[in-house]
Amino acid sequence: SHLHPFLQRLPKCEHHLHLEGALTPQVLFSLAAKNHIELPKDDPAFAAPESLVERYREFDSLDDFLHYYYIGMSVLLDAGDFETLAWDYFTHAAADGVAHCEVFFDPQAHMDRGVSYDVVLSGFQKARERAESDLGITSELIACFLRHLPPAHATATFAHDATQASFAAGHVIGIGLDSSEKPFPPELFQDVYQKAGAMGLQMTAHAGEEGPAAYVATALDVLRVQRIDHGVRVIEDEALLQRIAAEKILLSICPISNVFLKGVSSVADLPIRQFLDAGVRFSINSDDPAYFGNNYILANYCAVQEAFDLTAAEWVAICEGSIDGSWCGPERKEELR
Ligand code: HPA
Ligand code: ZN
Repeated sequence: SHLHPFLQRLPKCEHHLHLEGALTPQVLFSLAAKNHIELPKDDPAFAAPESLVERYREFDSLDDFLHYYYIGMSVLLDAGDFETLAWDYFTHAAADGVAHCEVFFDPQAHMDRGVSYDVVLSGFQKARERAESDLGITSELIACFLRHLPPAHATATFAHDATQASFAAGHVIGIGLDSSEKPFPPELFQDVYQKAGAMGLQMTAHAGEEGPAAYVATALDVLRVQRIDHGVRVIEDEALLQRIAAEKILLSICPISNVFLKGVSSVADLPIRQFLDAGVRFSINSDDPAYFGNNYILANYCAVQEAFDLTAAEWVAICEGSIDGSWCGPERKEELR
């Protein structure tokens, strides 16, 4: 579109990116070979990177994607692997005009297979430092808990010494909640969110992706999150939509992800016009770009532009909302504007 160069130049903030979701099939295969990790032999999708790319085009749900996502991340073992992964994301982000990002990782998914929290974190920290010095990208890390595991597992992971040390050092800014949404309502995780809130950590949760608007309401009321990841199904509850606008809750929406995981049949079916009209604050994000057609943030901006033909002023307002909804300090926000 004619707005493409304009969209590239906008100072973008990304709030919904799973670092494990930046693992491309090429890097997946090369790390599997390096680390001697055997990929499933009974699934022809794992024959080669190309067949995996094809299979990723056929996801029929969030859970179908998650099956591949967890196998994929099993190739990540040492700190260098996590650094490579995060650096790959940062270079794409730089090319797309990202100025600041707040990215997720899934500690339990690594710790459960014997990779320590500190190994994961030290790799990410190296990439973050290099992204700031070499690319001018500032970043924050958000530790997500997996809702398909027992809430007590989340609480124990949160209480772990290494996790607590990463919060105390400011290396991890807050917590999130991801993985299979139904049938795991947010309120199951009240305990860990109550503890995080008491420590003054930032808090967000995936809600209203596949799950109902009621999950968004309980994420706000019971978990007391400041942000909602996805949240597109709030469109089904007019009173909740008005409340989210009034309270300036940021929805981190992921248009191409929603199409790949069959939440909507096309980007044009997302309630973006209604969000703009209702004054809902949202940011546009890539979620798991390596799994969703190699579509990083700029492709998501362009897809929204193709579908909604927004004005330059509307784009500037979207970017200002996403700066306001970021968790960086006031000085950095001033620089981003
Ligand atoms: N939803 C839930 N869990 C996830 C996602 C998502 O979009 N991406 C990675 N884990
Ligand atoms: Zn997500």
